[in-house]
Amino acid sequence: MNHSGITIPFLDLKAQSKSIRNDVMDAFDRVLVSGQFIGGEWVERFEEEFARFVGSKYAVGVGSGTSALELALKTARIAGRDDVIVPANSFFATAEAVSNIGARPVFCDVDPMAFHLDINSVERLITPRTRAIIAVHLYGRAMDMTALEELAERRGLTIIEDAAQAHGTERDGIRVGGSGRLTCFSFYPGKNLGAYGDAGIITCHDRVQAERLRLLRDHGSPAKYIHVMVGTNSRLDAIQAAVLSVKLRHLREWNMRRVQHAKAYVMRLRNACIQTPEIPPVREHNFHLFVIRVKNRDAMRRHLHACGIETGIHYPQPLHLTRAYQDLGYPMRGSLPVSEALASEILSLPMYPELTDSQIEQVSEAVLQFLGQAETQEISVPAIHG
Ligand SMILES: Cc1ncc(COP(=O)(O)O)c(C=O)c1O
Repeated sequence: MNHSGITIPFLDLKAQSKSIRNDVMDAFDRVLVSGQFIGGEWVERFEEEFARFVGSKYAVGVGSGTSALELALKTARIAGRDDVIVPANSFFATAEAVSNIGARPVFCDVDPMAFHLDINSVERLITPRTRAIIAVHLYGRAMDMTALEELAERRGLTIIEDAAQAHGTERDGIRVGGSGRLTCFSFYPGKNLGAYGDAGIITCHDRVQAERLRLLRDHGSPAKYIHVMVGTNSRLDAIQAAVLSVKLRHLREWNMRRVQHAKAYVMRLRNACIQTPEIPPVREHNFHLFVIRVKNRDAMRRHLHACGIETGIHYPQPLHLTRAYQDLGYPMRGSLPVSEALASEILSLPMYPELTDSQIEQVSEAVLQFLGQAETQEISVPAIHG
């Protein structure tokens, strides 16, 4: 138990670090001895390994997932006066990246089961200003891109993929990151493949795009003190790249364990009056997050906390209702009903590879206990799926 009375944390990064400590320390040591801290062999090696892993021709390491999105948008030549459609239920950075390059995010509602962009809503939002759509593989589930691809092609729009949560997932035999489109990953420590600090990467098949990304991440500089465009400083550190190379070797196994945990949760909660996630074909979902939907979410969260169980909410406020985007003029309620409902009903249960069967049992029991205690459960969604 930690000092806050939590016995089952939402995420346990220490357990993972312990399991790979020797290999990580060895990697740190080799970077220290090499004296190469920015760029160089560690970064190049990881970029090659990651490109091979996802099946892309190129992978360009950058400073964070947010930066990956910004540089991908710039590479796709999105700029001021352009609109970019983004899902309202995502991490803030998905929209922030659009704003940071001077364009305008247009918020779109999501599908209530998969939590991905709702295609019909996307279509309704397209105007002559729309240039691109950011498809987020939210919670680690690979989005079905077929309808979106067809729509984007028909309307002449660019798709950029936000795969910050979707390391190692695939759909129809193609790994997320291997589609050829600009695809952005975050290696924030809590991700399924996480660094020991901030880091990110962009994958693509196009050589010209990869070259532009390499320039943009490093002051537009192909060689020391030569600057051919205005870029930024968003390089992947050698130390992070070396850690990521070690961790990439475990990713398949870690993802598989998460899927097993998800199945165990769904089995235990199968008769509960809550919406549990679908369990799609194994590699379609990496269960970065295991998100349930329940009407009296805040009371359930308090109950779990009292039982020593930490939970998360991803995300408590739909992006169009954040203070940061008030000037875009969205009405306070009702414009994106699914995202708005989700924000007050979703709850992320503890999920990480090192979670034990008995911890899953304890969490599930606490959920069931709460539901048994709750006198009236107004449930707006089907009891179980998958
Ligand atoms: C969906 C999504 N997009 C973008 C990001 C931004 O990544 P980073 O934190 O590495 O900047 C994150 C991660 O937090 C994310 O979950």
